[in-house]
Amino acid sequence: MLKLIQETADFLNSKIAKMPKTGIILGTGLGNLVTQITDKTEIPYETIPNFPVSTVEGHSGKLIFGKLGNVDVLAMQGRFHYYEGYDMKQVTFPVRVMKAIGIENLLVSNASGGVHPDFEIGDLMIITDHINLFPEHPLRGKNHTELGTRFPDMSEAYSTDLIKKAKAIAARNSIKVVEGVYVGTTGPTFETKAEYRYFRIIGGDAVGMSTVPEVIVANHAGIRCFGMSIITDLGVPGKIVEVTHEEVQQIGNKVQPLMTQIMKELVAEL
Ligand code: HPA
Repeated sequence: MLKLIQETADFLNSKIAKMPKTGIILGTGLGNLVTQITDKTEIPYETIPNFPVSTVEGHSGKLIFGKLGNVDVLAMQGRFHYYEGYDMKQVTFPVRVMKAIGIENLLVSNASGGVHPDFEIGDLMIITDHINLFPEHPLRGKNHTELGTRFPDMSEAYSTDLIKKAKAIAARNSIKVVEGVYVGTTGPTFETKAEYRYFRIIGGDAVGMSTVPEVIVANHAGIRCFGMSIITDLGVPGKIVEVTHEEVQQIGNKVQPLMTQIMKELVAEL
């Protein structure tokens, strides 16, 4: 694995003159932030050595190097989900590569279902913590000390400092944000009513199918994390209606610009 990571990092180093210190993983369909990146170099996943091969027809996504405001960033447009069939080492491989090219901060976004009774559709949730319910752990197996410690601390999986900064940014832009715990589960089904209730009971505020693996590996690698979730539907008793992927995308689209604004100002403060 170490060899593969280095090979991919070497490839990217040969393409990009100045490596960013900030990485951004954009949730599926949450590409709005990319429109704000200037001086772009785009590298499609299928051209990157050792990157997971797409399970779907067409484009699997791309890495975008460029400037967000005055800050060099690397954005991943499109991520690898466990439900697509990738194993956890594949899902998190891009984070390993980010570390190898010098990324120190990771911003992640996703869409999720709210289970906090006060949440509303279209809310922006700052992720304060997560609960990992994926059946496979990305760090299972031999630990390479070069990549991180065997038993990583997760007491501040999402940086308190970055959460504080993001809340201040939201306040001065009059953007409503809520905070909460993200439950990561495999999908691809949305939840049954009983599952939504269960996620609430165990301490969740929102549930989704991504983010947790990448944040675990980033923590293992010593990368500081920040995450935001767009609440696209509600798993709250009395408010549960049929959910479709299209609706999730639609709500995501509407709220994205606000999230982009927060992330843009946040990278300037890193
Ligand atoms: N559950 C899981 N993942 C999701 C949801 C949901 O309700 N909404 C968007 N992603």
